[in-house]
Amino acid sequence: MMSSRRWPTPEPLKYHVHNESQTIEVAKKISSELSPGAVLALHGELGAGKSVFARAVMRALGVRDQALPSPTFAIIQEYEGRGCRLAHMDWYRLHGIDELEAIGVREYMQPPWVCLIEWSERAAKLLPPQAIHISLNYVTDDPDARMIEISPDPLS
Ligand SMILES: Nc1ncnc2c1ncn2[C@@H]1O[C@H](COP(=O)(O)OP(=O)(O)OP(=O)(O)O)[C@@H](O)[C@H]1O
Ligand SMILES: [Mg+2]
Repeated sequence: MMSSRRWPTPEPLKYHVHNESQTIEVAKKISSELSPGAVLALHGELGAGKSVFARAVMRALGVRDQALPSPTFAIIQEYEGRGCRLAHMDWYRLHGIDELEAIGVREYMQPPWVCLIEWSERAAKLLPPQAIHISLNYVTDDPDARMIEISPDPLS
């Protein structure tokens, strides 16, 4: 695992990880920089590791539940953390932003919440300006390797 710069920085921070445990280590490191009101937009193809990353952040912030089910069918799962509440969202099956307005999505993007969103591309305009973008990308032909990029701006 390697990184080039300290986060947060205006330039994307990049980690080349070789397995799931290293992804979890990166998530823990990022978690130590988060405070209530943080919004993390997780990007990457199916199976890239967005849920792995999100669950690692939740555990690092004090969520004790064992299973941490994927929110795919619920849009959102709520958890109690240490000094914050956590919202884990998955917008993959979203039909329209009305669905998000109906659950009062903006409430989850401010203190006391830390908000983790998979497939935020489905409703990108609902992300607040402080959102941190975390992109997990497959690299080479190693099924367990990923390039993780962390940036204050959406990556193209
Ligand atoms: N370096 C890695 N980082 C994260 N997950 C990895 C890594 N290497 C292998 N994996 C595996 O890849 C899978 C990632 O699944 P995960 O559910 O986190 O993906 P996802 O991006 O949330 O997918 P979806 O778009 O379906 O929600 C897991 O089975 C995990 O064990
Ligand atoms: Mg997922």
